[in-house]
Formats: sequence, C-alpha cells, structure tokens
Amino acid sequence: MHLTKEEERIYNGECGWANQICMKILARLGELFNATKLIPIESAHVSGVSYKTLGDAPAEFLQTLADAHGKAKVKTTLNPQSFDTEYLGRKLPESLRKKQLNILKQFEKMGLTMSLTCTPYYLEKPKPDSHLAWAESSAVVYVNSVLGAWTNREGGPSALAAAIIGKTPDYGMHKAENRKPRILVDIKTTLQNETEFGALGIHLGKILEDKIPIIQGLNNISDEKLKQLAAALATTGMTNMFYYDYHQERGNIEKITVEAKDLKSTIEILSTTEKTLPDLIFIGCPHCSSNEIRRIARLMVNKKVKAGTQVWVCTSRYVKERVRDCIEKIEKSGGHVLTDVCTVVSWTKMLGINTIMTNSAKTAFYAPTLNNAETLLAPLKQCLKTALEG
Ligand code: F3S
Repeated sequence: MHLTKEEERIYNGECGWANQICMKILARLGELFNATKLIPIESAHVSGVSYKTLGDAPAEFLQTLADAHGKAKVKTTLNPQSFDTEYLGRKLPESLRKKQLNILKQFEKMGLTMSLTCTPYYLEKPKPDSHLAWAESSAVVYVNSVLGAWTNREGGPSALAAAIIGKTPDYGMHKAENRKPRILVDIKTTLQNETEFGALGIHLGKILEDKIPIIQGLNNISDEKLKQLAAALATTGMTNMFYYDYHQERGNIEKITVEAKDLKSTIEILSTTEKTLPDLIFIGCPHCSSNEIRRIARLMVNKKVKAGTQVWVCTSRYVKERVRDCIEKIEKSGGHVLTDVCTVVSWTKMLGINTIMTNSAKTAFYAPTLNNAETLLAPLKQCLKTALEG
C-alpha cells in the first residue's frame, strides 16, 4: 500500500507512539484487503465500549493509547456502555462501574464524543457519498443503505485507529465497484411491522453471504423499519448494505424469493419462551428515534406497567433531550427511558432478568447467548400490551 511522505513519517514513529500504532493498524488492514492508499474520512464511530463485552486487556490498551496522547482527528462517536447513571448504575456493583468509567475516561482523553449510542446518525446525519470509518454493524448497514454514506464494517480498534489518523484504507465499501447489487430478493408477502423487517434481515443475513441485495417488494417502509432490517441483516451476515429503491440497470443477477412462512419461522425460532409476563420488555435496539419515543408515549400514556415486569426504552441523550414531554409520559407509566446503554451490553442476569421480550430481532438473536435469557420477539404494540395488560 502506498503511503504519502507524511503517512510514512507517522508510520516510522516521528509523530509519537500512539499515531504510529494506529498507522500500523491501518496499513496492515490495507495490505490485507489490497488497498492501494489511505483516504480521508469525515467521521468515525467506535464500538467496544461496554466493559461487559470489552474485558480487561483491551481496556488496558485504550489506557496506553490515551496516555501516549492518542487524539481523534475527526468527529468520533461512541457506542453504548454497560449502564446508565440514573437507573442501572445504582444497581450494579461498584467494581464493575469503576472499570466501565475508566474506559470512558480514556475515550474522553482521546477526544471522542461521549455519545454512547448505536444510532449516532440521529445526532448528525452523514452526508451522502461521504467516507466514514464506523464500527457498529447496524449503523454501518443503515448509513450505507439508507443515507448513502460509504463505510466498511470496522472493528472497534480499526475505527479508533482511523479516528486518530483521520483516514481509512481505500477498499471494500469505499469503492463504487464493490457497491453493486449482486442478488435480487423478491418479497412475496406484505411486511406488517418493524419486527417482520427485522426477521427479514435475520433470514437474509443467513443466505446472502456478503452479496449486496436489491430487496424488491417492500412496502410500508419507514426509516425505523429499515433500521431494524439493517441491524438484523448485519447480525447474521456479512452484507454491508442493501438497496430497496433501485432504478439503475441491474444486469442478469441471481434471484431469490422470501415468503410469509420464512418470516414466520424466523420469528418463532427467535422466541424461545412461552412465559406470558417476561422479566423485561426492552425497546430500543438499535437506540430509539424521536418518532419511536413519541409512539411509545402514545401507547403508554395514562396506563401503568404491570407489577412483575419492567420496561426499558433505550435511546441517546440527544434524542431524550428532544422529546422530554414524551419521556415524562413513559416514566409516569412506570417505564424507564435509559440513555448510554442497551440490554445486550449490560449485565441483565446480575439484575435478575431471565426473560426478555423485545421488538428487535437483533436483541432476540443475541440475548440467549449474551444475556443468558429466554426471549419473546413481537412488534412494539404487542410488547407494550404485554407490559400494560399482562
Ligand atoms: Fe445498539 Fe445494543 Fe442493539 S448497541 S444495535 S441496542 S445490541
């Protein structure tokens, strides 16, 4: 891979150890994927923030990088951590909280924005055709497919290295020829709600490998439903984008169909319990938009969450600030609107949560392993009906 004179100086350690190690990570990555150069990025988004998923060794690396004066050169947002300060933070052991807060301190020292959300595109929408280095697979697929930005699916370390250098290797989704559709998915049923969009993503992720699909026949589309599709597609597969509104010449490409029974069986497989009142009803994977919060408030206003369960609605601080009136309604009904965190990256077992009901196919897929919990997957309306009526 060709490095400019300036990049070579960084690579040789003339600009300090932190910059050198980051340049080495990017150069190695570029070599692996046959990139010929580095290209500037407009922003980075770093995952691997929760101490629960990160562990001690990566946390020590972050500290070393921050101590060596690693500093982000471009706007860089952060994924959720393992608790929020107001609710879960009070319930978890001090030792875990300390470890988590130390991780955040290192990121802050490196100049990252304490966004702590997996939907950073609600804070600032990336421009179409802008090059990014984002980790968090749900956000990667969403911004490539819905917002028209260009990013590979970075890992936490490569996104951080790109943030510190301000560049990323030019390969994969940064090249127009790799963004062409290679398969046509014909939807032979009418998708009714966000959970079915998620189920579609889980189903397709398993069969597409890394092929970019044109998904034809989607109706009742909204940004929030596409967000569920993006998150789920990235959960089971390596596809980094999809087309849902494609009008160019597509040539002679492979074709598959999806029928109602495919979605039904996916939802059934992702629901592992028959328990009628789950310990937790979780909405907000990926983190809720203002529209979703408004809808939840409308469904919960003047009602009360049943004893024996709890409702968590996860979003970013940014969104929460903008829909204060709705937050009040949800909290008055007994729901908890949590920022900075999500169920999957928190210690739910430690909080006595063994069954989780959610409208998110991604959470339903991960919860049995990452939360050691049984799951129920159902649309938002049904989740809240369960919470309010049992
Ligand atoms: Fe976000 Fe957690 Fe889901 S990070 S995409 S809410 S698993």
